[in-house]
Amino acid sequence: MKLALRGDLLDFTAEPAWGDTESPAVRFRPGHWLLVDDGRIVAVQAEAPGPEWVRDDQAGRLILPGFIDTHVHSPQLDVIGSYGTELLDWLETYTFPAERRYADAGVAEQGAAVFLDALLARGTTAAVVFPTVHKVSADRLFAAAEQRGMRVIAGKVLMDRNAPDGLRDDVAGAERDCLDLIARWHGKARLAYAVTVRFAPTSTTAQLAMAGALCSADPTLYMQTHVAENRAEVQWVRELFPDARSYLDVYARAGLLHPRSVLAHGIWLDDEDRAALRDAGAQIAHSPSSNLFLGSGLFRWRDAEAGGAAVSLASDVGGGTDLSMLATLRDAYKIQALSGERLTAWKGLYAATRGGARALGLDAEIGSLEPGRLADVCVWDWASEPVAARRLAVARGLHEKLFAWATLADRSNLVSTRVAGVERYRRPPTGVP
Ligand code: GUN
Ligand code: ZN
Repeated sequence: MKLALRGDLLDFTAEPAWGDTESPAVRFRPGHWLLVDDGRIVAVQAEAPGPEWVRDDQAGRLILPGFIDTHVHSPQLDVIGSYGTELLDWLETYTFPAERRYADAGVAEQGAAVFLDALLARGTTAAVVFPTVHKVSADRLFAAAEQRGMRVIAGKVLMDRNAPDGLRDDVAGAERDCLDLIARWHGKARLAYAVTVRFAPTSTTAQLAMAGALCSADPTLYMQTHVAENRAEVQWVRELFPDARSYLDVYARAGLLHPRSVLAHGIWLDDEDRAALRDAGAQIAHSPSSNLFLGSGLFRWRDAEAGGAAVSLASDVGGGTDLSMLATLRDAYKIQALSGERLTAWKGLYAATRGGARALGLDAEIGSLEPGRLADVCVWDWASEPVAARRLAVARGLHEKLFAWATLADRSNLVSTRVAGVERYRRPPTGVP
């Protein structure tokens, strides 16, 4: 099908520099047509297309590439907003009990559908996802993503110690489950498998070695985990792995750091760790709302980048408090403000689109409005209520407008989400429920 979508197109041609509000990396094409043929962007033009193109005219609205959430837990919709704990207590008190339910295929299937539809209803079209330790939870998540045509990277969670009954695997069984899931899903449709180590404390050295061997056997696999999120966690890892130089080094020794490694948080890393990330080509999935909510700490984004690590953006629900990448951006700005830095709208929106795509090695598929990319695109109202309308009306210049938009917009601004050109979310005429 030939689709022509008109609106104010915004994307990035390169990475914006810190503090640069007039960045040459920003590409803004107001009132342009995005031409999509068979799910792929084929052209962008100011002139109206010919009659063979089906028009979706969204003039006066903002069109962005779909957001990319590089770290989120599908079963943790059930624990968002749980009171009163830091990471390790939060896992024991709320999260592990909630994840146990995902042993059940029906719970896993229904949970995956609700989760992916919730992403689409917030403008997120691609995600790197933790389901649970249960094979069925990953299987149903992949199936639900395939049905929706989404780019999803996920894998069964590995945890063979320091977890309650019903949430532990063992090395041999886990390896078998991984291999089955890889054979079934890796490279199918828009799906990829990630070897998913929950975090160092819940895997034995033998399990970490197995995970590393899976990665070395197939360099097209991703790896996802958590690292250096919370000070008590870092101390625990020091006790569990006394021979490792650092928390990150536990993963490095197991062969888990490579260009497809996505490590959430990375708040408590040192310069040597940052250099190791750079040398491996691995990325940090910065999870600001989670870091604030669980009181984990203030991520030094600029230091991480100066050290050579790629940084992408993540909701980390349910430690994070909102699946929306706009809410994530707002919290990212506040964390940088507390650290004496300023995150421009450009830097934040880049990280949530093309930056995330690049870090995942998916720049040729998603993250921008370049011809050749799949048409994962969202249409947004500039303003959906009077306060935002008033604020945007007085904005001077494009950065001020986008920054105010990102600060004030929420899911009620989202009009339509397309995945490979197919509309997978449309705001109900009566507004969002
Ligand atoms: N570390 C290990 N597991 C988790 C989790 O589920 N959420 C967060 N934020 N950190 C973790
Ligand atoms: Zn997480």
